[in-house]
Amino acid sequence: MPALRFLTAGESHGPYLVGILDGLPAGLPLTEEHLLPRMQRRQGGYGRGKRMSIEGDRPQIVGGTWKGVTTGAPLAVLIENASNRQGRAQARKTVPRPGHADLAGVLKYGFDDANPVIERASARETAMRTALGAAACRLLEHFGVRLVGRVIEIGGVAAPPLAPDGTADAIEAARDASPVACCDAAASATMVARVDEAKERGETLGGRLELLVFGLPPGLGSYVQWDRKLDARLAQALMSIQSVKEVELGDALDAARNFGAAAHDVIRRAGEGLAREGNRAGGLEGGVTNGEPLVARVTLKPIATLRRPLPSVDLETGEETEGRYIRSDVMVVPAAAVIAEAMAALVLGDALVEKFGGDSVDDIAAALAHYRARLPRWPERP
Ligand SMILES: Cc1cc2nc3c(=O)[nH]c(=O)nc-3n(C[C@H](O)[C@H](O)[C@H](O)COP(=O)(O)O)c2cc1C
Repeated sequence: MPALRFLTAGESHGPYLVGILDGLPAGLPLTEEHLLPRMQRRQGGYGRGKRMSIEGDRPQIVGGTWKGVTTGAPLAVLIENASNRQGRAQARKTVPRPGHADLAGVLKYGFDDANPVIERASARETAMRTALGAAACRLLEHFGVRLVGRVIEIGGVAAPPLAPDGTADAIEAARDASPVACCDAAASATMVARVDEAKERGETLGGRLELLVFGLPPGLGSYVQWDRKLDARLAQALMSIQSVKEVELGDALDAARNFGAAAHDVIRRAGEGLAREGNRAGGLEGGVTNGEPLVARVTLKPIATLRRPLPSVDLETGEETEGRYIRSDVMVVPAAAVIAEAMAALVLGDALVEKFGGDSVDDIAAALAHYRARLPRWPERP
């Protein structure tokens, strides 16, 4: 059983989204205000549809804290849907959209209407994942771990690599100045133009995001059993985000095209400790954190609902027809970068509590200090 586990429930247009995060240690200051910045970032980003301007997305913490501090009891969170259509007449949807869950869901459950599929498969559910993930981020931040997601490509327009000495603060500041969460101003402007072009054509776009995690201690995760490998746990969490079709850890694609000497990070003595020449492994070796920043890149396919719908079949009549347009986003990679931070935080928070145990953040702090003290120390070289 994971140390930190969560579930979400609720429909896209039901009254509430519901979430429970179990295993959060006691003693962590946590209020709704801590969840809000990520909620707001998820709603923003150039290319989102009208729904995001309708929803307030103010999570309510209804369990697991006492006077603004976690108690060790399950964290319970509610988010009210402003766009609540429960009880209202809803036209049946019988023309599945290629690329969405409509057809697969209708076949799986035997529905004569895709509405129940759309209501749960939709990424509205990620509002709750973001809220719970923000609580996990808060836990990690308490131990000096910082997660930063940013957009690196939209519709084939790629951002140049980051400056190698960029701090988390500098990366966040550049990202937050961009309407598409891209740290490079020129690439950001070209990406915005690409989204405009997609809108004009009645089209949609996908892209890529990069997740950086700074301050992780080495030794999270394990190689001793397949389902304890942190790379695998992280890949599942990131892949579970709607539209995500590929997860790359470190420079995996580049490494696969090169010789080994160009792919791995040389180990050197550095003062009292160790240093790596480069971080092509992206902070993970053997399914275990190695002390370098974690780097994951995530690829999203273009949004499935096009204003100029793709051909499909009406499942009621059996006739080929044009798909139907439903209110939709055009491009969501900036929002996905926030959701990726949340999902990674839930996995990394789990790995942290798993390794350092304890019921309270003070217990974890003591175990972490003890562990850090036994990490390699050598005398300075002469
Ligand atoms: C933040 C976010 C918002 C999304 N908004 C839409 C949308 O408005 N319309 C749409 O067709 N798909 C949207 N998607 C993608 C679908 O939810 C997704 O394609 C669908 O559930 C099928 O899952 P799959 O693409 O992972 O196979 C969104 C995805 C994310 C991450």
